[in-house]
Amino acid sequence: MFRSCLRRSVRSLATVAEEKTPRLKKFQIYRWNPDTPEVQPKMKEYEVDLNKCGPMVLDALLKIKNEEDATLTFRRSCREGICGSCAMNIGGRNTLACLCRIDTDTSKDTKIYPLPHMFVVRDLVPDLTHFYKQYKSIEPYLQRKEQPADGRENLQSIADRAKLDGLYECILCACCSTSCPSYWWNQQQYLGPAVLMQAYRWLIDSRDQASAKRKAMLQNSMSLYRCHTIMNCARTCPKGLNPGLAIAEIKKSMAFD
Ligand code: SF4
Ligand code: SF4
Ligand code: FES
Repeated sequence: MFRSCLRRSVRSLATVAEEKTPRLKKFQIYRWNPDTPEVQPKMKEYEVDLNKCGPMVLDALLKIKNEEDATLTFRRSCREGICGSCAMNIGGRNTLACLCRIDTDTSKDTKIYPLPHMFVVRDLVPDLTHFYKQYKSIEPYLQRKEQPADGRENLQSIADRAKLDGLYECILCACCSTSCPSYWWNQQQYLGPAVLMQAYRWLIDSRDQASAKRKAMLQNSMSLYRCHTIMNCARTCPKGLNPGLAIAEIKKSMAFD
């Protein structure tokens, strides 16, 4: 009894000592201020003690902003992978800061940039105006000529509803579109994986009656056919979705239906 108590207190003393040794992790973060456009963007270094920080990159960013540098600018809201606003490029990959664990190897710096190939509003905030315009252009809502039989609900079979799985979960974070080389080079006309996946979501919704119009909108050389199945989009999606596959399905249905 006495020995096990002694062992327990030695262990807790060791834990306290461990906690007291700071685990300093360096973050290199992209900074740019629109108020001084003549100053080139730069990487700024911050150090965070991982013993005093939550496990996710968003925790580190919040800690830096709250305790070290209130001017650091980034978007975030839900902190649980639902709003899509904390999308950024962390350690070379587009992802959500709130779902991305901090690499606890303190010998390596973690580099954080805004989503690539987008205009920057400030620091880690990309300008998503064009991305949202493209989303609006696919008319992402139910379109029907007929009213539902009961005058209230448009019913759908369980099997038809299941076809939307893997599509409706998209949170429009833009991680996929901004990882797609075709989108980088043809952003003005190519809709990109995120928007095309939503175009497919509405094309295969059994309740929607505008599929002919939806397909006609994609029937040109740029909106859809710039996808070359490179699949960066599926590799990077923080929600585990596969926009490349959805695009392939649209192409198939345009060719055979
Ligand atoms: S599969 Fe298509 S959409 Fe996805 S990254 Fe490749 S080119 Fe872009
Ligand atoms: S498909 Fe994935 S990466 Fe692309 S916008 Fe949707 S959630 Fe984000
Ligand atoms: S804060 Fe909402 S997805 Fe990260």
